[in-house]
Amino acid sequence: MTALDGKTVLLTGASRGIGAVIARSLFQSGATVVGVARDRAKLAHVCQEIGSSGAPSGASSGTSSGPMASTVAAKCYSIAWDLSRSESLSDLIQTVEQTAGPVDILINNAGIERYRAFQDYTLQDLQAVIGVNLLAAMELSRLLLPSMVQRGSGHIVNMASTAAKKGHPFDSAYSASKAGLLMWSDALRQELVGTEVEISTICPGYVDSSGMMADTGIPAPQLAGSISPARVAAAVIKAIEQNQAEVVVSKDVIASTISKLLFATWQFFPRFGDATYRAIGVPQLNQQRIKPAAVELAGSTRMSSRP
Ligand SMILES: NC(=O)c1ccc[n+]([C@@H]2O[C@H](COP(=O)([O-])OP(=O)(O)OC[C@H]3O[C@@H](n4cnc5c(N)ncnc54)[C@H](OP(=O)(O)O)[C@@H]3O)[C@@H](O)[C@H]2O)c1
Repeated sequence: MTALDGKTVLLTGASRGIGAVIARSLFQSGATVVGVARDRAKLAHVCQEIGSSGAPSGASSGTSSGPMASTVAAKCYSIAWDLSRSESLSDLIQTVEQTAGPVDILINNAGIERYRAFQDYTLQDLQAVIGVNLLAAMELSRLLLPSMVQRGSGHIVNMASTAAKKGHPFDSAYSASKAGLLMWSDALRQELVGTEVEISTICPGYVDSSGMMADTGIPAPQLAGSISPARVAAAVIKAIEQNQAEVVVSKDVIASTISKLLFATWQFFPRFGDATYRAIGVPQLNQQRIKPAAVELAGSTRMSSRP
């Protein structure tokens, strides 16, 4: 029996990357997973894979409900939804609750980034990054908190990044959204004292093999190193089980301690931090990740035809 056994988890960004790995880990820990993302087929595939990997003992079969919902496997539901439509998120919560019942744990994992020199961002770029990475997380939490507080139990996990600790040049909107997520979580945790609702923020470093960094085809700075999606998923499970407030995910405890010490030092000496990032190649690699706007627009237009 784990802390996740029998819990219902709403997991955003479950269709691929780190989210797909978190979905599997949650399921293996005995949780019912309600995965949300825009790509219905990929979400369904994640649920199918989880189902074929074998249900934990005592798992029951789910039933679908709601116009956007499709049940693919026992205890894994997928709901195709565009989180950038913040005014629609109350309908999403209604659909989730009709599908799987009250949500015990919310994992705000969905995220996007747009590499640009800041002056080259469009208003739509800024709205997209802040909308998915920050506003959707806040709005889903705002909608779910009353029921969690009333039931005297709940956990919110926010997937930030080490970009929340030290800004990433040419990815500044992303850094702003993640720093916002981190500091909002920090404030909310203090508000929630005495409610039995917990909040954890996860700050992974560069993630290899799958996910947004791997998709750019440009490797992490060699000196920064990288971690696997499975390591991030394990950190999420541990944060829930041990009610951790803030976790910097690096390859091991020593690397994570060094990272935290560096972030603290850079609070005192920000230009030393800038010089370190230049020395290890952060701005140079991010500049290489800038895609022509037309390429990104083609991708987002394809996605926006989905619900
Ligand atoms: N990869 C890294 O190196 C790294 C490092 C630190 C932190 N993180 C954070 O970890 C989280 C997961 O990242 P990842 O690397 O797994 O990224 P990813 O592979 O690009 O996956 C992003 C997920 O978010 C979903 N998503 C994006 N826009 C959405 C929208 N408008 N509505 C609904 N869902 C949306 C995507 O699904 P659809 O496209 O199907 O909608 C996908 O499931 C993010 O918050 C990211 O910032 C990643």
